[in-house]
Amino acid sequence: GVQRTLALIKPDAVNRAAEIEKVITEEGFTIVERRQVTLSQADAETFYAEHKGKPFFETLIEYMTSGDVIAFILSGDDAVARWRQVLGPTKVSVARQEAPSSLRARFGDPGNDSKNGTHGSDSLTSAQREIKFFFPDLTLEAALTGE
Ligand code: CMP
Repeated sequence: GVQRTLALIKPDAVNRAAEIEKVITEEGFTIVERRQVTLSQADAETFYAEHKGKPFFETLIEYMTSGDVIAFILSGDDAVARWRQVLGPTKVSVARQEAPSSLRARFGDPGNDSKNGTHGSDSLTSAQREIKFFFPDLTLEAALTGE
């Protein structure tokens, strides 16, 4: 069925947003909302709270606050899983091996596991939380149904 998911273009890839947006539309997603923002340290720590304590957490937060990010609400059939498929594996070096045409293979930095270019919600539950995080002015119902 039709779902919504949260997509992010991370700081290093923002200068390639036009190419990434072209992929988004070519893959059949509808861009429901788009917002360019600078995350504060507290914002980034909240967004990535589930990774607190992991060895890469500090590097990830520093990276995610180093420049603007662009957040999108994408809509489409099976959007959560399908967007993850378009992203490819989390690690760019793995993405280049296993999914060379994926966004992370094309727009990520293979020398830095944080700089993987793009993000996508990993479940419907995460999508609801992440959409609310970046688009707090939408009611949850609007975020889910577009009405
Ligand atoms: P993302 O899908 O945004 O979710 C968590 C992020 O942590 C991930 O993409 C990477 O940017 C970053 N990260 C850095 N190192 C690792 C790692 N070893 N494993 C998973 N994610 C990592």
